[in-house]
Amino acid sequence: MSDLNLIKALRDLEREALAAISNTSALTELESLRVTYLGRSGGRISGILRGLGELSPGERPTVGQEANRVKTVVKGAIEERGRELTAHDSEGMSKEQRDITLPARGPWRGGMHPVTEAVNEIWKIFRNLGFARVRGPEADTEWYNFEALNTPLDHPAADEQDTLYLVESVLLRSHTSPVQVRTMEAHDPPIRVIAPGWVYRRDTYDATHTPAFLQVEGLVIDEGVTFVDLKATLGEFARRYWGPETQVRFRPSFFPFTEPSVEVDVKQIVSLEDGTRQETDWLEVMGAGMVDPAVLENVGYDAERYTGWAFGMGPGRLAMMRHGVGDLRRFFENDVRFLGQFAQ
Ligand code: PHE
Repeated sequence: MSDLNLIKALRDLEREALAAISNTSALTELESLRVTYLGRSGGRISGILRGLGELSPGERPTVGQEANRVKTVVKGAIEERGRELTAHDSEGMSKEQRDITLPARGPWRGGMHPVTEAVNEIWKIFRNLGFARVRGPEADTEWYNFEALNTPLDHPAADEQDTLYLVESVLLRSHTSPVQVRTMEAHDPPIRVIAPGWVYRRDTYDATHTPAFLQVEGLVIDEGVTFVDLKATLGEFARRYWGPETQVRFRPSFFPFTEPSVEVDVKQIVSLEDGTRQETDWLEVMGAGMVDPAVLENVGYDAERYTGWAFGMGPGRLAMMRHGVGDLRRFFENDVRFLGQFAQ
């Protein structure tokens, strides 16, 4: 081979090597190119240089110089490409580590907590029935939490064993009923309100109790309000919340601030996946009753002129029923994998 042919072969090889190097996408590929072109014994440049022996001594230096130039260029290109492949991108990953076949992560979307969702749904139904929404303090006095509600301080409910006292006669409210008293003090009848909020009791933390839980209080006061209004309104609420065929049962009960008092149970009709319909068991969903005249007198209302009714329900309980969750604690452990399934 003449020196011109060798020089052409070296330049072709240079072009080919540079194209192959810029096409690599992994360091392992780059390493095998290095062996292919620059390898000491089997490398292609060394292969061409083996032809040097056939040239005249005068021709050898030109070809040798060209071979060294090509070697330097190819070596430089391999080093440069190596730096590119290991360079870290904005997420700290090299091109090697980045797996472009991974499905993209969607944006992080928040969702309403299932118990908050229950409060909102209860609120929407009562709003459509003409109720306003009010709130009261979570720390309240014995007067508002017990005495004004016709509950003497020696009543078991007022016991320190059951209640979280902050200081003498001030406690974390054990129910939302004190908001009844505060609302009546602030407004004259007619009153139609609901009051959602947190309440606190010395309860053991178990599948159906948490020491802090949400309640939704309801209160209606006007002239001529009777037990019929209570039954009709709570029945309407039940059908709007649990479905039009829901049955409602009122069982006699006792609360110091209502007389008569009831526990309200519902029986739902659920459609199963196979199309059949099934009745649930009776489930207790709230306490209610006609506001005791002693409570009306405590806020300075004329108990001869005004009557009313009240209820208290637990949206945590409602959320458990709705989502078939057997353990209330799961709602408060803040595991987004659990809570996320309920997000709309
Ligand atoms: N406050 C009662 C409770 O916490 C519930 C209730 C509210 C009952 C209003 C009657 C009327 O158990």
